[in-house]
Amino acid sequence: MKKAIIIGASSGIGHEVARLLISQDWIVGIAARRINKLLDLKNIAPERVYTAQIDVTNEEAEKSLMQLIDCIGGLDLYFHAAGIGWKNPELKEDIELKTMDTNAHGFTRMIGAVYRYFMNNGGGHIACITSIAGTKGLGVAPAYSATKAMQNTYIQALEQLSTAKHHNIRFTDIRPGFVDTPLLDGTTNLPMLMSPEKVAYSIVKAINRHRHVCVIDHRWAILTFFWKLIPNWIWRRMKLS
Ligand SMILES: NC(=O)c1ccc[n+]([C@@H]2O[C@H](COP(=O)([O-])OP(=O)(O)OC[C@H]3O[C@@H](n4cnc5c(N)ncnc54)[C@H](OP(=O)(O)O)[C@@H]3O)[C@@H](O)[C@H]2O)c1
Repeated sequence: MKKAIIIGASSGIGHEVARLLISQDWIVGIAARRINKLLDLKNIAPERVYTAQIDVTNEEAEKSLMQLIDCIGGLDLYFHAAGIGWKNPELKEDIELKTMDTNAHGFTRMIGAVYRYFMNNGGGHIACITSIAGTKGLGVAPAYSATKAMQNTYIQALEQLSTAKHHNIRFTDIRPGFVDTPLLDGTTNLPMLMSPEKVAYSIVKAINRHRHVCVIDHRWAILTFFWKLIPNWIWRRMKLS
């Protein structure tokens, strides 16, 4: 039986990916800050689902992750779904800094911890949900888009490091468009909105196929392809709401 840990499994995409892996007979460790929101997953298969309270912004998070790995008896797949984000055109300081703390510091803490674990234990697979928001700087969500771009680059860097050092660590960078989860609560009329169930299915498929980068879905892949081609002098003048 394969073993996976999902951080950020208490709601949204991470919750659905955890549900899918459990249904496919994986031994699963699930974590988030709201441990009570993990109980429905635990109840699906109590004998092979383990829960932990982990806050990626806390310095103790690495220790808790290692304890969870011990609990499930090893690790094949680390899945990082923990993330926050808001529109912040007023550039409120607390929102910008909180986003940096979770999506940049917390991300680096956890990905680094699991990279070192795999490096010393024969390798494994690291998959992360980043976003299409990292493709370009978005004026309505500066910290969110900047941290997502950071995550994309960080994964690319670690993939090169792993190859150079023969660490046998694979990566999948998952970049969804809009998904109907609590993260988007309060935002209305979003185009090409996807369900978390559909996105989770595509994520597990991408992981099984060892994809390096996966934009979900094909409509968003086409859109971001063209976004990247927009020259900066035009991008600067574009109004995205
Ligand atoms: N929804 C979208 O349109 C969309 C699109 C592209 C990418 N994404 C990305 O997908 C990921 C998952 O988001 P979602 O849409 O599924 O939103 P969500 O339902 O709000 O889920 C976010 C998850 O992250 C966890 N989390 C947040 N802060 C954490 C912390 N400090 N420590 C540990 N866990 C933490 C939350 O758990 P607790 O609050 O219980 O800790 C929750 O389980 C995020 O990285 C997001 O940026 C979302």
